[in-house]
Amino acid sequence: MPEAPVLNPPKDSLFEQLKVGETLPIAVEPASIVIFGGAGDLAHRKLLPALYNLHVDGLLPPRSAIVGVGRKAMTDEEYRAFAKDGITQFSRRPLDEHAWETFAPNLFFVTASIDDDASLAPLGSRLDVIEHERELPGHRIYYLAVPPSLFVPTVKQLQRARFVAKGQGHPWARIIVEKPIGHDLDSARAINDAIADVFDERQIYRIDHYLGKETVQNILVLRFANSIFEPLFNQKYIDHVQITVAESEGVGTRAGYYEQAGALRDMVQNHMLQLLAMVSMEPPHSLDADVVRDEKLEVIQSLRPIEGRAVADCVVRAQYTAGFDMGRPVPGYREEPGVDPNSRTETYVALQIWIDNWRWAGVPFFMRTGKRLPKRASEISVQLKEVPPILFNANRSSKLDPNVLSIRIQPDEGFALGISSKIPGPRVRVYPVQMDFHYGSTFGGTSPEAYERLLLDVMAGDQTLFMRRDMVEAAWQWVMPILNRWAEQTTEPLPTYPAGEWGPPEADRLIEATGRRWRNP
Ligand code: BG6
Repeated sequence: MPEAPVLNPPKDSLFEQLKVGETLPIAVEPASIVIFGGAGDLAHRKLLPALYNLHVDGLLPPRSAIVGVGRKAMTDEEYRAFAKDGITQFSRRPLDEHAWETFAPNLFFVTASIDDDASLAPLGSRLDVIEHERELPGHRIYYLAVPPSLFVPTVKQLQRARFVAKGQGHPWARIIVEKPIGHDLDSARAINDAIADVFDERQIYRIDHYLGKETVQNILVLRFANSIFEPLFNQKYIDHVQITVAESEGVGTRAGYYEQAGALRDMVQNHMLQLLAMVSMEPPHSLDADVVRDEKLEVIQSLRPIEGRAVADCVVRAQYTAGFDMGRPVPGYREEPGVDPNSRTETYVALQIWIDNWRWAGVPFFMRTGKRLPKRASEISVQLKEVPPILFNANRSSKLDPNVLSIRIQPDEGFALGISSKIPGPRVRVYPVQMDFHYGSTFGGTSPEAYERLLLDVMAGDQTLFMRRDMVEAAWQWVMPILNRWAEQTTEPLPTYPAGEWGPPEADRLIEATGRRWRNP
């Protein structure tokens, strides 16, 4: 009798089972992760919970040190309490006391400012002690989780304090920069120049957290690991593409930043252009970081500029007024705390975009993003051309629904393919149905958060999911004529939409003028 196979103990979910035996593609050496702004909101909500989850998954190299830096006077113990609170509130997994006991000793806090040339000295001496005691090789990751106005001063202090050896030496130093990188093209160049004085491009990791999302990474797998889609992704078969990133939240407590930013700078210049690049790029010849990033850059460089009078034809900006969020009355943008009552900052933007290359010639891409829309949902839908008006599509008064591939970025991650099917019965009646894939029901468990993947990639030295300098600047270059045109229009009425609705009527007209309609996720 053949022996019964020895089975793995059952795991909760396919995701957990598939993770068994998963190891990192590259050996990751332990490092000191130095978080400037270590006691701030980003560290509390995202970075510390992400590092905790990496630890739970066995992906944080043992002996790694996590060193928060900030102006506040805080002891290590107080910092650990701060981290525990962030993990309890924001981690995708509930805090496990045993895992916490082994994670907490990796956390330290150093009170330091960057006000004068000697101000990083306490950090230097503390890092030396920590690295000596933990027998660390001296690799350092500096995370700029500080307001953008402090990026350049912090980097200059790192240079003055001789914390960084430029290049790929051993031990290595890497820097992580959060968005926004600049307020416009000139300020982005200034930040990039200042960082480039101290770090090589190979040491710089510019975060766009959308690239860390599982579903965004899956766009490449969907396109290039399935032979069904790639042959169709071009002007011969695609009618148009829509990208929607909808948020139900308002500006919250971030008016100080958002008033100066607006939706175009906050979402389009970075996250949405990244989604556009992922869905439209040519197949890279390898998964090497620069090969992938070259292909994405090519898309941004192929975008038709929207300049001068074309801005009014192709772009709609709007602001939310008072309305409802899940039945609860909410104020308009101009009534939010910290917002100028005459503010012209846009909380919504919709665009019609053309990619002037061979693959996408003549295929419009529509994008929209906004705060205080009816729900939080991000989706890319790729709509195929209609079937010819014969057979089942002969009746022009009740046309068939075209096939649509909907890639759901969040929540309810997955994708669906809308197709036509015959309704069972003696008559030939056609009905739209869906082939639907949900991450949740297939893989179970919870996918890692974007910051987990991104922090791990920095430790491993993989830049694929980070923004290269030329990409950041090309994206700014493309949005600048729109921002410049808006800056000239200081008196024209700004379209509005009530909180809880899908944007202003002007945005509906933008797409309907082309004979198409928004698809609400
Ligand atoms: C940030 C923006 O980059 O992305 C925020 O500054 C926005 O305004 C956020 O709310 C959206 O991220 P996510 O992951 O919640 O879709």
